[in-house]
Amino acid sequence: MKINYNKIFNIKNKKAFVIGGSGVIGHEVCLALQESGCEVFNLDVKFNKEKIKRIQNIYFDCSKLEHLEKKFSQLMKLNGVPDILINCSYPRTSDWKNNSFKKINIKSYKKNIDIHLNSFVWTAKITADNMKKKNVEGSIILLSSIYGLVGQDISIYKDTKMTESMTYSVIKGGINNFTRQMASYYGKYNIRVNSICPGGIKEKNHNKKFVKKYLDKVPLKRFCRPSDIAANVLFLSSNASSYITGTMIVIDGGWTAI
Ligand SMILES: NC(=O)c1ccc[n+]([C@@H]2O[C@H](COP(=O)([O-])OP(=O)(O)OC[C@H]3O[C@@H](n4cnc5c(N)ncnc54)[C@H](O)[C@@H]3O)[C@@H](O)[C@H]2O)c1
Repeated sequence: MKINYNKIFNIKNKKAFVIGGSGVIGHEVCLALQESGCEVFNLDVKFNKEKIKRIQNIYFDCSKLEHLEKKFSQLMKLNGVPDILINCSYPRTSDWKNNSFKKINIKSYKKNIDIHLNSFVWTAKITADNMKKKNVEGSIILLSSIYGLVGQDISIYKDTKMTESMTYSVIKGGINNFTRQMASYYGKYNIRVNSICPGGIKEKNHNKKFVKKYLDKVPLKRFCRPSDIAANVLFLSSNASSYITGTMIVIDGGWTAI
């Protein structure tokens, strides 16, 4: 069979739900999908003022777990079942920074597992069930992290106010293995589930000592860019990745290679 290699990257007119589409990564993902001709639904709790054609903003709070099933199913009833779900949200409690081994308390730990890991799990499951019901051969993409693959190197936080996060490793490790489990279960319905594991993105107020120590460990000597992630979202959304499921796409400049 002759393959048209231009066509297999085409995602024009696909419907994409982006949870957390107003964030640093999510916004770039929405723009990339929109530019590729998708109909994009940004599901978030905050929105930029800017209005962009074919990107619809819909208020959706994924941390309200008790209403999540009903609210998310309603969203699909109103707007249709998406071909693509990308979860770029970063729900966290106000004391999130105190989730280091030294400062953590069980209440905050449990709450963050609930609003982040459990909301990722539940929205992905509801989406896959709806895709299955409507025979949508969909792609589900979950934002994980290198810290779902390896432990944090605590030496990069030395002489800064930054700390490791005990809870983040549980959340992102959980997302990665749930990705494998979902891929196994939904594969026969042609629903693909993958996660993306980016390295750190540069923040304006990053401590200089941290930046130097971090980049010393990255073979490509730069931070991750939101566009590095968005480009891979397009790939995972398209038929070019039709035989890829249950895997982690690592976008880390080589951090986990050494
Ligand atoms: N920024 C990085 O360096 C980095 C690196 C690796 C992985 N990640 C992962 O990528 C994802 C996105 O990160 P980011 O840097 O873009 O974060 P961000 O904080 O810039 O954006 C997160 C988005 O999630 C939304 N959100 C928060 N709580 C929500 C809720 N209850 N319901 C719906 N939406 C909610 C926010 O409003 C925001 O728009 C996260 O899962 C993060 O763990 C980020």
